[in-house]
Amino acid sequence: MQIKTIETRVEIYSFEELDKSVQLLIIKAKDQVNKAYAPYSGFHVGAAVELENGEIFVGSNQENSAYPSGLCAERVAIFYANAQYPDVAVKSIAIAAFTNGNFLDEPITPCGSCRQVLIETEMRFKKNITILLYGTKRVYMLENVKQLLPLCFEKSSLNG
Ligand code: THU
Repeated sequence: MQIKTIETRVEIYSFEELDKSVQLLIIKAKDQVNKAYAPYSGFHVGAAVELENGEIFVGSNQENSAYPSGLCAERVAIFYANAQYPDVAVKSIAIAAFTNGNFLDEPITPCGSCRQVLIETEMRFKKNITILLYGTKRVYMLENVKQLLPLCFEKSSLNG
C-alpha cells in the first residue's frame, strides 16, 4: 500500500490587509447578498467574478420551491460572465454569505457542484482563477480552483 497526501494551500488575510482591488471585488460580492432569492434557506450568498479584461459580473443564489432547480450564487455569476464573454478568461471570484442578520464569521466555502463548474472554467481558459472566500473574521485566498478540488474529474478524464 502507498499513501498519497494532498495539500491545499490557503492564504489567510484580514480584510484590511488585502489590496484595494481585491477588497473591491469582495465588496461587490457582499453587496449581492441583498439581491439573493433565498426564501427557503434564508442563506443569502453573493459572488463577484472578475475577467481578465477587467469586466466584473455579479450574482446571487436563486432558490426554487422545487429545491434542486435553484442555483448557487457562484454559478449564477460565472455562467453569466462566460455567457457574455466566452473568449475571456476568469481572473478571480469573490464569495460572501449572509444569514440570521450577519455575514458569516468564517469564510464561506463553495459547494461541490460550484467547484466542478469553477474547475471547468479554469481548465477551459488554462488560467488560474484566484478564489476569495469572505468571512468577517478572515478572508481565505486560494491561488486556483485545483486547491478546492484535487483529484477532480475534467475534460481529459473522458479520454480514459
Ligand atoms: N449556496 C450558494 O449560493 N453558494 C454556496 O457556496 C453555498 C450554498 C446557496 C444554495 C442555497 O440557495 C443556499 O445557499 C443554502 O444552501
